[in-house]
Amino acid sequence: MKKFLDLGIQPLANKYLVKKDLVNNKKEQFYHLEVGFDSKSKLVSIMNTVPSPKMFDNKYPYRSSMSQTMRNSFKKLSKYIKKNFKPNLILEIGSNDGSLVKNFDKKKTICVEPCKNLAIITKKRGYKTYAEYWNINLANKIKSKHKNIDLIYSANTLSHIANLNSVFKSICHVLSDDGILIIEDPSLMECLKKNAYDQFYNEHIYVFSLVAIQNLIKKFNLEVFNIETLNTHGGSIRYFIKKKSNKKIKISKSVKIYLKKELKFRIDKFKTYIQFKKKVEASKKKLIDIFSKIKKKNKKIIGYGSTAKSVTVLNYCNIDKSTIDYFIDTTPDKTNKYMPGTHIFVKKYKKTLLKDADYIFLGAWNFKKEIFKKEKKFLQKGGKFISHIPKPCII
Ligand code: TYD
Repeated sequence: MKKFLDLGIQPLANKYLVKKDLVNNKKEQFYHLEVGFDSKSKLVSIMNTVPSPKMFDNKYPYRSSMSQTMRNSFKKLSKYIKKNFKPNLILEIGSNDGSLVKNFDKKKTICVEPCKNLAIITKKRGYKTYAEYWNINLANKIKSKHKNIDLIYSANTLSHIANLNSVFKSICHVLSDDGILIIEDPSLMECLKKNAYDQFYNEHIYVFSLVAIQNLIKKFNLEVFNIETLNTHGGSIRYFIKKKSNKKIKISKSVKIYLKKELKFRIDKFKTYIQFKKKVEASKKKLIDIFSKIKKKNKKIIGYGSTAKSVTVLNYCNIDKSTIDYFIDTTPDKTNKYMPGTHIFVKKYKKTLLKDADYIFLGAWNFKKEIFKKEKKFLQKGGKFISHIPKPCII
């Protein structure tokens, strides 16, 4: 693993603090966020990982059902799955608050979600839920209880697990021979194109490319047979995977086409990442410059969408409470709390709060379309957003 980017000392991106923590001067856990490239496997990953139980516990705040964009994406996918694969039994790894499984029959779905506060949501709704980490022990347990799992789905989860060999081995263990694995995660090419360095934080151990996924799964006699590009999470790839022994499914042209694009982009070359690092450093300077010019005029800035991504940006660019007064967010487990590292307060979203600010930093830039639609009036009245993607600018 060769390092190409240093994003500094960072707090754990989803560890929000309460008032008591600040009063008691609670020590937060920090880590050095460095990103590297493995020239053999072509995997891009952070270099210092944090143990899973420190990140995914019984207080994990992220809820996938909080955005219309994600709800729509899962609904559309569910229809596609029912129509094209007609699965007997679906297993979802990282089911979060059940935003995908709610589109499926309870008897035909198994959830795996180690964050107990989230697992309880699907349990209460009647879905069989294992509140455990995905590994070979759990795969064994599930295999002994459930037969013929012919569809496994996992969105924005596998990139959060350090031991990918164990992940795929466990998947192969439970997936039927003619079964299908669908995974989706942010796309490395989109991340590089958009200069979205904030895709890197302690939970995003990997940002995958098709090249890297192919290298990874071939060891397990798995192959990608279709690719779909998505707008979610700043640009994602949905990989449709099958066992090589299953000859009934043909490999779609989409795989070759996307691979060609990645190779043209030189995703497999270290030099590409050195160029990215230079762009990231320039982006930091420009963003700091925009913020300091606004603050010199004594204008008020608030943040919109207290994302894990914002945590990377704020801590990397040394932006704190003296620049951003507070964030607004719709997630219940983030509001009335303080962001990790910077301790910027997060208020519950209320439309009227927008009037309170001269500028709004768009932390949830990946939901720009949804948010701009929602805040049309604010924009029409001359309201200004600040975004750092793809280049720091005022919108
Ligand atoms: P996301 O970008 O998925 O987060 P992360 O970087 O942590 O993976 O999260 C979007 C955040 O933005 C989430 O905390 C909810 C918030 N949000 C709003 O407050 N209002 C909105 O209209 C939308 C779409 C998101």
